[in-house]
Order: sequence, then structure tokens, then C-alpha cells
Amino acid sequence: MLNIALPKGRLGEKVYSIFDSLGYGCPEINGDNRKLIFRNEENGVCYFWAKPSDVAIYVERGVADIGVAGKDLLLEYSPDVYELFDLNVGKCRMSVAGIKGSRPADDTTLRVATKFPNITKKYFRKQNREIEIIKLNGSIEIAPLLGLSDVIVDIVETGTTLRENNLEPYKDIIDISARLIANKANYKFKNGEIERLLSKMRESTAGKEC
Ligand code: PRP
Repeated sequence: MLNIALPKGRLGEKVYSIFDSLGYGCPEINGDNRKLIFRNEENGVCYFWAKPSDVAIYVERGVADIGVAGKDLLLEYSPDVYELFDLNVGKCRMSVAGIKGSRPADDTTLRVATKFPNITKKYFRKQNREIEIIKLNGSIEIAPLLGLSDVIVDIVETGTTLRENNLEPYKDIIDISARLIANKANYKFKNGEIERLLSKMRESTAGKEC
């Protein structure tokens, strides 16, 4: 039995359909219900929907053998897990963005609003730029509009949220996609099962090794 943590939401649904297409389906998952844990003995899988930012915690602690998490969350939280496969879905980028047509002066401490303080610190340290982090939990785009920050570091997918709020990307800093991750000990104990899944992914999806 493989225990699999999936990110609740649109990405999780897309990822589940990949697992389903590879023979790891669990019909009950598509039902109209609010259940969070689904088992299918026949296909040897148990799925659970976790908050996207928590998937790696379940995997790191071995409650889930494998899971799927965005590269943004893996870089931000550095969980102690194996990153096995780039599923080539959930593609977006992490960008520094701010008000359209304006650039903050580069001789002052830059106020940066973000959900990703670790990624942000690392990036600006490399640029030798002094910053002050303003940690937010969502709707990051309003920070520069209201004068809370000079710029933001955030996920850009279609660019619509930036455009519709008179913001623009100043610099793309990381390409992001969903990754299959595995608990380190369980990867050894369930190596046959996990490798079987991986070889199906290599053969039948547009993904690639990490
Ligand atoms: C994410 C991200 C941006 C938006 C980008 O927000 O933080 O706000 O999506 O997508 P777009 O480029 O296609 O417009 P999310 O929906 O996760 O909500 P949040 O405000 O809680 O971060």
C-alpha cells in the first residue's frame, strides 16, 4: 500500500488524474463529498488531501510515503525528503514585482512583501541588496499598492493578478513546477512500489527526473 499526500485544490486534482491514468486510481475520490482520505486496496493506494504547504511535512514524517509539492514550497521549507520527479504540471514562476513603470531606488533598504521569506532572503543576499521582509500570508499584490512594501516576491502563473492591479514583474527568479517527493526511509522500505510508479511516470508523462 502506498500512502500518498496530494495538495488539496486545482493542482492536486490535476496530479491525481496523472496517478489515475497510470493505474493508481481510487474512484471514490471523484465523488461529491468532503472526505479527505481515500483507500483503494485493489490498486494499493491510500490518498489524502493535505494543505499544499503541509504535504512535505506528512512526507518528511513518513505518514505519507510519497507526495506532490510545488518547488516553491520545497525551496522555502527545505524538508528532509527525496525529490524524485518533476511532474511538469503546476508550472509558474517566482518573480520580484512592483508597480508598473516604476523602479524603487537602489540605495535604500528595499521593503519586500512575501509569503516566501527564505527564498527572498537568499535571492537578495546574492544580489548584495539590503532588504526588510514583510511576511504576509496571501493577497501579496496589495502590499505595494497600499505602500506597505516597495516590491513583492510572489508566484506568477498567468500574470493576470499583476496586470489587473497595475503591477508588473521586474525580475523572474525561479521556475516552479510540481515535484514527486518521497520519505527517505520509506523510499527504501517500499522501493519496489515507488520505483514501479516512477518508471510509469517516466514512460507516460511529460515529466522528467529532478
Ligand atoms: C497565487 C499568487 C498570485 C496568483 C498568481 O495566489 O500568490 O496571487 O496566484 O496567479 P496569476 O499570475 O495566474 O494571476 P493564490 O491564488 O495562491 O492566493 P493567495 O493570495 O492566497 O496567495
